[in-house]
Amino acid sequence: MNMKTLEWKDGELVLIDQRKLPDSLEYFRCRNYRDVIYAIKNMVVRGAPAIGVTAAFGVAMAELAGEDVEAAAEEVKASRPTAVNLFWAVDRVMKSESPLDEAITMYREDMETNRAIGRHGAGLIEDGDTVLTHCNAGALACVDYGTALGVIRAAWDEGKRLTVICDETRPVGQGARLSVWEMQQEGIPVKLIADVAAGYLMQTGMIDKVIIGADRIAEGGVANKIGSLMVALAAKRFNVPFYVAAPMSTFDTENSIYDIEIEERDPAEVLYYGGCRIAPRGTEAINPAFDIVPSDLISGIITEKGILDPL
Ligand code: MRU
Repeated sequence: MNMKTLEWKDGELVLIDQRKLPDSLEYFRCRNYRDVIYAIKNMVVRGAPAIGVTAAFGVAMAELAGEDVEAAAEEVKASRPTAVNLFWAVDRVMKSESPLDEAITMYREDMETNRAIGRHGAGLIEDGDTVLTHCNAGALACVDYGTALGVIRAAWDEGKRLTVICDETRPVGQGARLSVWEMQQEGIPVKLIADVAAGYLMQTGMIDKVIIGADRIAEGGVANKIGSLMVALAAKRFNVPFYVAAPMSTFDTENSIYDIEIEERDPAEVLYYGGCRIAPRGTEAINPAFDIVPSDLISGIITEKGILDPL
C-alpha cells in the first residue's frame, strides 16, 4: 500500500477513513485532540498499533494548542479500553520532552517494527501455503505494512506462492472490508469466507497456518478481535499452527489477560450489517468486540525481536 493509514501534515493528523473502505478511499482530518478521540471511538482508525500512534499525535496536538495535556491524555486513554498500545503510547508521549517529536518517532518505529515482524514471520510460511487470518492486522491497523498481513507480505515478497483466506469478521467486517482490500492492492491471492466456515476449512485440510494480530498479550493469553477464540479452538483440534503477530508494545506485563477490560460496543453493530437491519425490531444483542485466546492454543508470537512463546 503506498498510502499511510495516518499522516502528520501541516499541523493536522490525516487518517484514512476506514469506515468508508472498500467502497471509497476518503480521508478524515483531525485538527485537535477531540477529533482524535472521535476517530478512535468511531473506528475511523482502528487496530492496536494504529490506535496507539494516533493517540500519541492527539496528545501532541493538545500540547501544541496549549491545552491541559494531562486532562487530554486521560480523555484520549478513555477512548477505547482493550488495545494496550493506546495506553502505552499515551504514557510514552507524556514522559517525553516533546510530545510531537515523540509521536513522530513512534510513527517511524512502527513502520520499522512491522518490517522486522515480517522478516521473522516469513520463515514460518512455506511455498504454496494457504494462510487464514481474522480481522485486519494489516497496514490499515498500523502506520503501514501490518503485523499478521506484514508476515504475509514479507513471505510473498520472498517469492513464496500463497493464498490468503480472510474471515469476514462480523460484526464490523474488518476481514471482508479491509484485509481483502489490502491483499487485492498487493495482488496477493485472497478469498473471503463467512466466519462460520473457518472450522470446516481446517477440518478438510484447506488451511496450512493461521496468523492473527493482537490487541493485548498478557499472562494467560492474547486478546484479539471477537471470533479469534473460535478460530484458535478449531486450529488446535485440526492441528493447524496458530500464530499471533504483534509488536512488543502490545505486551502487557502488569495484568493477567483475564483481568483486562473487553470492550462492549453498540448492539447496533450486530443488529445491522451494511446499513441493513438483519433481525426483528426490538431484538436485543450482545456485542463484545474482543475475545481471549488462551496461551495453550498459540504456537508462537511473532514479534520484532523474534518468535516468542506466549506468556
Ligand atoms: O476493533 P478493531 O478493528 O480495532 O480490532 C482490531 C483487531 O482486533 C486487530 O486484529 C488487532 O488490533 C491487531 S492489529 C495489528
